[in-house]
Amino acid sequence: MGNELVQLTVVNQPGLAGAPHSVSGAEGADLCFSAPHPVNESVLPSVIPAQAGIHPPSTTVPWARRLRTFYIETFGCQMNVHDSEKVQGVLLARGMTPVENHAQADLVLYNTCSIREKAAQKVFSRLGAFRKGSSGAGKVIGVLGCVAQQEGERFFARAPQVNLVCGSASYPKLPQLLDQLEAGKRHVTGLSLDTDECFETELTPRDNPFRAYLTIIEGCDQRCAFCVVPMTRGRQRSRASEKILAEARRLVEDGYTEIQLLGQIVNAWQDPSPARLSFAELLSRVAEVPGIRRVRFTTSHPRFFSADVVQAIDAHSTLCDQIHLPVQSGSTAVLARMLRGYTREEYLEKIRCIRKARRAISLSTDIIVGFCGETRQDFEQTLSLMKEVEYDQVFSFKFSPRPNTLAEANGDAPEEDEKGRRLAELQELQRQIQLRRNQALLGETIEVLVEAYQGRLGQAVGRSTTNRVINFPGSPEDVGRYLAVKVTAAGPNSLVGVRE
Ligand code: 5AD
Repeated sequence: MGNELVQLTVVNQPGLAGAPHSVSGAEGADLCFSAPHPVNESVLPSVIPAQAGIHPPSTTVPWARRLRTFYIETFGCQMNVHDSEKVQGVLLARGMTPVENHAQADLVLYNTCSIREKAAQKVFSRLGAFRKGSSGAGKVIGVLGCVAQQEGERFFARAPQVNLVCGSASYPKLPQLLDQLEAGKRHVTGLSLDTDECFETELTPRDNPFRAYLTIIEGCDQRCAFCVVPMTRGRQRSRASEKILAEARRLVEDGYTEIQLLGQIVNAWQDPSPARLSFAELLSRVAEVPGIRRVRFTTSHPRFFSADVVQAIDAHSTLCDQIHLPVQSGSTAVLARMLRGYTREEYLEKIRCIRKARRAISLSTDIIVGFCGETRQDFEQTLSLMKEVEYDQVFSFKFSPRPNTLAEANGDAPEEDEKGRRLAELQELQRQIQLRRNQALLGETIEVLVEAYQGRLGQAVGRSTTNRVINFPGSPEDVGRYLAVKVTAAGPNSLVGVRE
């Protein structure tokens, strides 16, 4: 969602690292290989190690090297963060151990984001470090995610130090790809988008100790003119309701009280199982799992948004009063060019439906400024929509033309300077709206889940059901607790309070 850039460093997960290695089978049709690594024979074990839980991929394939340690860095959205958690599960199941930094790792993975040009560039600057300092010698380096899918085999020419290129639609094949790397293949790819499989893992360690992500739908079948995701994440595929509910129950057993259901278009979820639950029914069933305190879901597409979701929120106090509903533009003409599938009026109709809920639902959105053909008048339509809706949070971006999208040519988009001015104007308007809305909460008591304690400041950091951050004097023991906090001060981005 939005412009969050997350850098995830895998931390040691005691108890999981020794899990048994799953033995995988034959190569998939989309796996391709080229010349093997130059292998230093002296460092290879002469016999296949017979340690508990470590098995060779095949007795006929000689070991080139065994990958024992790994490090993953993640860029981009929550989907990527959770994908990395699942990849971590695959690696732990092979008996591998996470380490603190790339220098210590046999296997270094970058899970990449290509939603905008700037995000896509990040991985290349990371890979540069390996080229210059040759600190990559002896390591296996893999690129996962959207840039991997987008660049494909070209990656090897552009960054020869890379050994694995794998898009998210091929993650179910990761064990086979890793077997091939261990067998000494130099270049391995998983790039097929032709799948109806979701990435299921036995073990999925979560990095956040309170909020567990849970994927319900992968891929995207929309063709928004600006967006690279359908090309990088493949066709839409939903997980069965029983699997989702079983995972939710397991997460609660493991101690999680907050679950965030994830999907590129989470509300396009369609139950492939005979239960045939609607998305709103699924939300209700997850909200009813005994022990659950908070359920969130992201990202909803306005096109699929229906009133039964609002009814579900009204009926279940555990469903958070927060909806992220990206509008992208307030101009019907721009929305049409973006191929969003709704008009300004239709979007506002959905907002009116949300505003009628019994609980005040907090709204956030994504907006792109400077899309192809966006005139000053179109932009003003966006500003007026923001004034009308009064979002609690807006993630805003300058349009960045992406490869293989309909708007790749960037025809008649405003100049970069003009995009920058519009973005600044929009962000200043939203700052004022947020300040006003947050100040309206002065004196109110809010339930927060305490997510952190900042020892230096003596402050606990909590989050409300509406996704607001609130700082208050607290103690390290508060972390993980639900507390009532009275709002005493409000800024545009966060609140200050005291414990009730
Ligand atoms: N340029 C700028 N922003 C984009 N987004 C998606 N594609 C682009 C692009 N090409 C934004 C949208 C989306 C959010 C995740 O990123 O607002 O909702």
